[in-house]
Amino acid sequence: MESFDKAIEMGLAKSTHEKSSVKCYPTYVTDLPTGKENGKFLALDLGGTNFRVLVITLSPKRFDMKSKIYAVPSNVMTGPGPELFDHIAVCLFKFCKEYRLLNDNLPLGFTFSFPLIQKGLTQGILVRWTKGFNCSDSVGKNVVQMLVDAINRRGDMKIDVLAVLNDTTGTLMSCAWKNTNTRIGLIIGTGTNCCYTEKVSKVELFDGDRSKEYVIVNTESGAFGDDGSLDSVRNDWDKQVDSASVNPGMQLHEKMISGMYMGELVRLVIVDAAKKNLVFGGATSEKMNTRNSFLSKYVSDIESDKRGTYNNMKKIMKEMGHPNAGDQDLAIVRFICEAISSRAGKMLSATMAVLLNRIGLDNVTIGVDGSLFRFHPGFKDLMNTKIRELTKYTFNLMLSEDGSGRGAALVAAVAARELEQKKT
Ligand code: GLC
Repeated sequence: MESFDKAIEMGLAKSTHEKSSVKCYPTYVTDLPTGKENGKFLALDLGGTNFRVLVITLSPKRFDMKSKIYAVPSNVMTGPGPELFDHIAVCLFKFCKEYRLLNDNLPLGFTFSFPLIQKGLTQGILVRWTKGFNCSDSVGKNVVQMLVDAINRRGDMKIDVLAVLNDTTGTLMSCAWKNTNTRIGLIIGTGTNCCYTEKVSKVELFDGDRSKEYVIVNTESGAFGDDGSLDSVRNDWDKQVDSASVNPGMQLHEKMISGMYMGELVRLVIVDAAKKNLVFGGATSEKMNTRNSFLSKYVSDIESDKRGTYNNMKKIMKEMGHPNAGDQDLAIVRFICEAISSRAGKMLSATMAVLLNRIGLDNVTIGVDGSLFRFHPGFKDLMNTKIRELTKYTFNLMLSEDGSGRGAALVAAVAARELEQKKT
């Protein structure tokens, strides 16, 4: 907790920002939703396992949403940047055609869940790729411009890109729309990251409207530890996951916690335990020896089995090439899953306690999204217990309903309102 808080302080201050592993990027979102937003918006959501296009209709306290998921092929995830944006534009076109939106000139909110240095709501300079993406010719560029260029290259759509935002911001906004006490947005999905409302006076890098009381800060907490501050708790399996990734040495906190890496951590521990003759009679299957074959989703499935029973586990072990695993083996695999998922829950709780202490208010709602929080049977309870041990402030963990979509529409709606106000 101490070193995370210090990293945040350093990230916020001009003189230490460069050195901090937790960058605390100001987002230019300075107003939470009032609940009165209305209008029809397009949203793009890029940054997890899937890419989505959405159309959202907001009206006071109601919203309607239609969405489609499109795959991002792995060659596009690691190919040239302009090709990724061309792919996005193709999907957007298909979506608008299907829903007859091609000529509507709709405002669009772009949820782009990677670290950005924002210079305004429609200017986001890509700092680096995370979560397995690694496109050339894009770091250092404004991703909104890259999107607009791709749309213009096609020349067959009228779209008004009004805002770019992180998924954590979307989650905070989407929960704030329902619950005005929301001050923190947390994602525990493919990656992990959090944002919170910080007093403008503390956010030295924010060069927007400094008369506002607070601004949402995207901490990019996934990179916590990249300066060595987590070295005392990283183990050999963490190091193996890191060195086999596309971005070694980066996103070390994220690699200990999030869905992109959790299954692989479990697999590495199982394989090591077998080598020491502690499980599966010392022999692991070809599948078990294959990188990334143990899905993170299995951890939630396995821990969803009633203690002492192994229904989901047996199916998974069959899938993993261990159809005859005995009860002792199953108990060991479950123990490994629990050790890794509860470590993640505890580490996240520590970061949440830090943010709650910084905000210094009771009754703060933490908006949370991501597969681990959604599907893991004990994650929410564990976090509730741990955060309570670590801070005196009261809080509430709220599952976000599609933050990346509704949040994008809400940020676009706030931007549209400001544009209108400027005109009059
Ligand atoms: C990664 C990204 C961050 C995002 C998080 C959750 O950490 O860098 O921007 O919020 O994943 O999707």
